[in-house]
Amino acid sequence: MSEPSIVRVELGARSYDIEIGAGLIAQAGARVRRFATRAAVVTDANVAALHLDALMRSLAAAGVEAHAIVLPAGEGQKSFAGLQDLCGRLLDLGVERRDVIVALGGGVIGDLAGFAAGVLKRGVDFVQVPTTLLAQVDSSVGGKTAIDTPQGKNLIGLFHQPRAVIADLDALATLPARQMRAGYAEVVKYGLIDDPDFFAWCEANGARVLAHDRAALLHAVRASIAAKARIVAEDERESGARALLNLGHTFAHALETSAGYDETLLHGEAVAAGMALAFRLSARLGLCSAEEARRVSAHLESAGLVCDMRRLAGGPFVPARLIETMLHDKKSEGGRMTLILARGIGRAFVQKNAPEAAVRALLEAETAIAA
Ligand code: GLY
Repeated sequence: MSEPSIVRVELGARSYDIEIGAGLIAQAGARVRRFATRAAVVTDANVAALHLDALMRSLAAAGVEAHAIVLPAGEGQKSFAGLQDLCGRLLDLGVERRDVIVALGGGVIGDLAGFAAGVLKRGVDFVQVPTTLLAQVDSSVGGKTAIDTPQGKNLIGLFHQPRAVIADLDALATLPARQMRAGYAEVVKYGLIDDPDFFAWCEANGARVLAHDRAALLHAVRASIAAKARIVAEDERESGARALLNLGHTFAHALETSAGYDETLLHGEAVAAGMALAFRLSARLGLCSAEEARRVSAHLESAGLVCDMRRLAGGPFVPARLIETMLHDKKSEGGRMTLILARGIGRAFVQKNAPEAAVRALLEAETAIAA
């Protein structure tokens, strides 16, 4: 088996490595053993059926005493009730500060288990073992943890960096095609933010990534993680550059809030539509060309991601409701929206005080039914 590829997140005393490669879940025990001799593994029922045995065997072989908590699958777990339940179960297991919590799963498990690790006994170490493309290239890296509330997604949470991230590419082999596509939206995001060459690489190789071509997948995951690690190291708490990682996300969170936090509209699907909207808004504002906005949508659509709000799952979407949610976004200041806009592909920037009237006009045009 080849050596894993390693990307380091440089955060001083809280720096950590992200390992990317094949067969890593079966080797995770030795890595976890560097941090603790006792572990609580948090996962969901779907992931448990596929990967829990391998992880538990590896932990046992490395001399780590481990207990598993298997939660129901789904975004619904990312709630106050879900957090309370998980913290109660971790306390019942007798988890101590010197132990480690291992989050085995997608973004929901990583966000929830990371949050629980951050607040349990005022902070317990945790290790992310992301099993979806979206979690590997985005949510497992950078220490954001959160739950959802009726007011919006991820509005309650904290920064709690993992001690390590173990991204096993083999875990993606069983991922449904829809989940691969949703994760791929976050891969494309890194090209759109500041790397036009990577976006061009995606245009040429996206189909290979989605078809699980190993070399293409490794390149996509590694390049995405390296881009994220660089931005997080520069701005851990999102006072500047990290906000760029939210390209398309203010639109996306509003779409998801409207669709409901179920499987109707996956986060990555909403992000794809949100990025297309951010580029169309940028084109309307004269910041980038209509041709570039079309190129963004064309690539996302070619990957099977819907960029037309009239065809997007979870609709119909009501512009006024979307705007209401967008105004509650974490980046809003003084009741004014902050959006990530673009001067072109690979030239995203943070726009404070974004023109609400232009957003409204865009959303009305995007949702209008042709006569
Ligand atoms: N997913 C955006 C961030 O981690 O900042």
